[in-house]
Amino acid sequence: MYRRDLQVDRLFHPQQQDRLAILLLRDSRMPFRTIIEPFRIKSVEALKFTTREERVRALADAGHNVFLLHAEDVLIDLLTDSGTGAMSSAQWAAIMQGDESYAGGRSFYRFDRVVRDLTGYKHIIPTHQGRAAERILFHTVLSPGDIVPNNNHFDTTRANIEVEGAEARDLVIPEGRQAATIHPFKGNLDLGLLERLLDEPGSRVPLVMATVTNNSGGGQPVALENLRGIRALCDRYRKPFILDACRFAENAYFIKLREPGQGSRTPVDIAREMFSLADGCTMSAKKDGLANIGGFLALNDDGWADRARNLLILTEGFPTYGGLAGYDLEAIARGLEEVVEEPYLQYRIRSTEYLAEKLVAAGIPIVQPPGGHAIYIDARALLPHITPLEYPGIALVNAMYIEAGIRAVEIGTVMFGCRPDGTETPATMDLVRLAIPRRVYTQSHIDYVAEAVIAVTAHSDDLPGHRIVSAPAMLRHFTARFEPLPARR
Ligand code: F0G
Repeated sequence: MYRRDLQVDRLFHPQQQDRLAILLLRDSRMPFRTIIEPFRIKSVEALKFTTREERVRALADAGHNVFLLHAEDVLIDLLTDSGTGAMSSAQWAAIMQGDESYAGGRSFYRFDRVVRDLTGYKHIIPTHQGRAAERILFHTVLSPGDIVPNNNHFDTTRANIEVEGAEARDLVIPEGRQAATIHPFKGNLDLGLLERLLDEPGSRVPLVMATVTNNSGGGQPVALENLRGIRALCDRYRKPFILDACRFAENAYFIKLREPGQGSRTPVDIAREMFSLADGCTMSAKKDGLANIGGFLALNDDGWADRARNLLILTEGFPTYGGLAGYDLEAIARGLEEVVEEPYLQYRIRSTEYLAEKLVAAGIPIVQPPGGHAIYIDARALLPHITPLEYPGIALVNAMYIEAGIRAVEIGTVMFGCRPDGTETPATMDLVRLAIPRRVYTQSHIDYVAEAVIAVTAHSDDLPGHRIVSAPAMLRHFTARFEPLPARR
């Protein structure tokens, strides 16, 4: 099973190597070095196998966009880690306890208690998923011409800012823009750039954000020290600081592993400190809520919370259910307790790293070090014969589907290259993300993925670029249709 090779931590300080070894080996409940899935399987879902010809046809029918495939035709689905996790038997049992009262349901109060205990925020506003929290927050506080800084905004966050006429500005540190550079906290925000922005006369910044972990930058964590630096700047310039907390538990575990002085703390303790440094958060419970649907907006500010709740009633639902069923609130409450358990996080981070090691050993360029929820292949580096505006990420995603039935996602020029004014520019990086659903796939599935990806990349010179046949003006990656370009050689 997932054997931790302790020299993996050669990436960091030599002292940290020792500390990590002790950390992993001293738990007397885990006497051997092999890290196992900390669960057994009670219910299974059959996979459907297809032939290469069937996949070629399915992809053509889907306009060469894997978002438009029927999921049944996918063997291993690494499109996203969002809402695709397996719930525990305790979560399913909690579902039966759901109170479906329209107002004041018991499930809301349980959810509210768990979220408040974790985050410490005053107002907990349930939403049907993360982007609804974003939409409500940004519509409440943004005006045209405002700027919202973040390490990197993810797709829906950016779109929900731009739809208000505001600018989503990415201020990740330079290392966070370079796939191969190794740094323990590549999700950190560049504090110098943030200070300069806040200091600019006339710049209108209603809030500062940080995404933990930084999804569009490779699932990279943000250090506590960096969050403290953001807090200090926000205090100096009197700005609210809001976390995009989708993967807060993975971020907390990376802090435990990599940040000096944090190794003996529990993940939940670190997570509480992360939340305490901000004034609120948006959250997709489909990630580190270990649920299939749900999210929340959490705020300390009474005025913002009042306005957000009014908007919630307009578009989501009454403030004690906010677009969710009572049973969803139960599943999330339980999920938030399970996600910070150390054996879970150790398995989660290690199993992602396990896939990374196999790809790196085969010479495949990936974002280093590997993220918590996904591996990001550097498609631009792998496919230098395809220019960014011919979408190297799409070429690799489509080849992985055709050859192996694996579905991944482009995080590059298709997702981020279209400006609000309709012009197109290459994104900072052209990545292909292999997102690992939580508690779903076993080690042999991951071995299959590694074998298949290595085989596909061995023939990467033959892969064709693509052109867009049709696309909507916003969030085009979800529904665009493509056509492969004729091979050059
Ligand atoms: N913020 C981040 C960092 C995200 O990764 C996502 C979703 C959202 C916000 C929005 O949350 O989906 O519940 O509305 N990311 C998914 C992904 C879809 O595949 O990475 P949502």
